[in-house]
Amino acid sequence: MNTVEIIKKKREGEKLTPEELKFMIHNYSEGNIPDYQISSFLMAVYFRGMDKEETANLTDLMLHSGKTFDFDDIKGKKVDKHSTGGVGDKTSLIIAPVAAAAGVYVPMISGRGLGHTGGTLDKLESIPGFRTGLTFTECGNLLEKSGMFLAGQTAELVPADRKLYALRDVTGTIESIPLITGSIMSKKLAEGIDGLVLDVKTGTGAFMKEYDRSTELAESLTATAKAFGKEVIAMITDMNQPLGKNIGNWLEVEESLRILRGETVSGLSDLSLKLAGAMIWLGGKAESQEEGEEISKEIIKSGKAFDKFLEISKEQGGDISFLKDPGKFQAAKYAEEVFSEEEGWLAGTDNYKIGMAALELGAGRKVKEDLIDPTAGIIFYPEIGDKIDKNKPIAKLFTNKKETIERVKTVLKEALVLEKAETKAPPLIYKTIS
Ligand code: URA
Repeated sequence: MNTVEIIKKKREGEKLTPEELKFMIHNYSEGNIPDYQISSFLMAVYFRGMDKEETANLTDLMLHSGKTFDFDDIKGKKVDKHSTGGVGDKTSLIIAPVAAAAGVYVPMISGRGLGHTGGTLDKLESIPGFRTGLTFTECGNLLEKSGMFLAGQTAELVPADRKLYALRDVTGTIESIPLITGSIMSKKLAEGIDGLVLDVKTGTGAFMKEYDRSTELAESLTATAKAFGKEVIAMITDMNQPLGKNIGNWLEVEESLRILRGETVSGLSDLSLKLAGAMIWLGGKAESQEEGEEISKEIIKSGKAFDKFLEISKEQGGDISFLKDPGKFQAAKYAEEVFSEEEGWLAGTDNYKIGMAALELGAGRKVKEDLIDPTAGIIFYPEIGDKIDKNKPIAKLFTNKKETIERVKTVLKEALVLEKAETKAPPLIYKTIS
């Protein structure tokens, strides 16, 4: 088989055989096909798509590029949650310890920042010492001992996704339903889970901006989960504004800690409770999703969720003194407020621009080798439906790159969609598919 011929075949919109896909995925994982050829292949898939059978084959090949877990010896249901990616989307940090504290086993394999969106691994690694590159054995031991682990793709665990994910991040090939399906589902199926909660984002800060495309993605993900015998709930949720106020790695950890300690943050708290409730229900620890939500509230109130986060952070090498006292974390050198030049009611935001602004400040990568600045990011104050006043700041930005500040201020101002008449907040959840 020939790499160039396979690229050309997909470029022409033809269907690839399982053998051709195997050739590409296997040889790329093994380092036999260079990044430039796979980038071209990914772009062909981006434009030409894949049918259901190709998507299932791609997922299966990515899944079996490494080892897969079998946690049958651990009695109790294993459930995970995955989001298709958003701006300020930090719910994993909150709900994994909530569900684990409720007695559900949570084997979580996550990703790094992708495009304009943040990644759970980068957020966790902003906690000094926190290790996400766990071995296969460490994952199993932690699940047994603490009821959860928070790991990344490694040479052992879904290595095909590790490489493809990093490449898609910097080659403009993220927004593809088959590639997102293969990426998410290979990680989730490798975890040996019984159930999965999917948070499919829609809106200006999502990879699928239109509702119909988000629904198509939700259907592709749920169909794949079901084909592999998993129980699944998908929620299509709003991403037309940042989730919570904080965007950027440490800033998001800090906001999550406040929620785990019982504080309420509009939108973020509600969505976290809904997702955790669904996990607890699928995990067999509640009779319904609603009961799962009530259990989640109790667990947060009792301090058990916060303690679980401390426990897992310590187990994974994190210095928990920073979690107990977030003020200890050294802030970015520059912190500046941003003011709107216009007044009006906030009708929406260009949330993609807000995510890209955080990346520009140092919170994300432009090329694979870029280092993340854990202190960089944005606190974005207003919510859709709020009145914007010229005298009040709309955001505060944090960076160590002085040269980015003025440009980012302009971008944030441009990201506001203002109207003269009163506006309404969008729904948090548009639809639940179960
Ligand atoms: N999350 C993933 O894990 N992969 C994607 O491709 C998009 C979001």
